Amino acid sequence: MSSLSLRSLSLPTGPRAEDHLRQLAPGERRLMLLASVDRAGGIGRGDELLLPLRQDLRRLRRLTMGDTVVVGRRTLESFPGSRPLAGRPHLVLSASLDAAAIAAWEDSELCPDLPSLLDACARRSGRIWILGGAAVYRQLLPYCQQAWLTHIDAVLPAATHFLEMPEQGWTTVWRGPGYLDRSSHLAYHYEIRCQQKALPLPR
Ligand SMILES: NC(=O)c1ccc[n+]([C@@H]2O[C@H](COP(=O)([O-])OP(=O)(O)OC[C@H]3O[C@@H](n4cnc5c(N)ncnc54)[C@H](OP(=O)(O)O)[C@@H]3O)[C@@H](O)[C@H]2O)c1
Repeated sequence: MSSLSLRSLSLPTGPRAEDHLRQLAPGERRLMLLASVDRAGGIGRGDELLLPLRQDLRRLRRLTMGDTVVVGRRTLESFPGSRPLAGRPHLVLSASLDAAAIAAWEDSELCPDLPSLLDACARRSGRIWILGGAAVYRQLLPYCQQAWLTHIDAVLPAATHFLEMPEQGWTTVWRGPGYLDRSSHLAYHYEIRCQQKALPLPR
């Protein structure tokens, strides 16, 4: 065996993104924002994602399966069939939707305003993924312990923009390698940031 292959065999395996999904203690809760963003902060166009990256959507499914997810009404309506994602209880922020229709979905709740959304989060434990859109990211960011970001290496025509992530108080704890999306030929990479002093949920 050549020294090159020996060396590559002995390379330490770096930390994986999933290492930041540490086991939570019983009753513990963690708010985690998840978004894919282009270089200008674009996240959406009309009622659609800016760029649906196949691998990124698979990753979202893998990461969030079984956990509570938080969405705004417009993001909910952007899902296939305007229906919630299977296998995940939803907290839906909307002043216009019908509470009974939302409650019919597995362990889901309609939250008609921000205080009731924060209260619903406080009544749940485990991981709570903030899936957007921009209005929801803006209001929930102060309470998030982590932000899982997909950075698309392009500026695309967007109608909806992510908020400016504050530099202060947030630290990058993991950055992944670059990938190339086969269908758009655009590069993207993942990053995880942690907020040192996330606001506690009001009780
Ligand atoms: N790239 C990504 O990672 C990503 C992720 C998610 C979404 N997106 C994109 O983002 C876009 C949608 O974002 P958006 O900001 O326009 O919409 P949104 O955040 O999904 O939903 C906005 C709606 O949420 C409700 N809402 C927000 N704040 C509220 C409050 N304090 N009280 C009561 N209701 C409240 C309102 O619903 P009512 O009008 O019913 O009251 C409001 O119209 C789409 O293009 C989507 O594809 C991108």
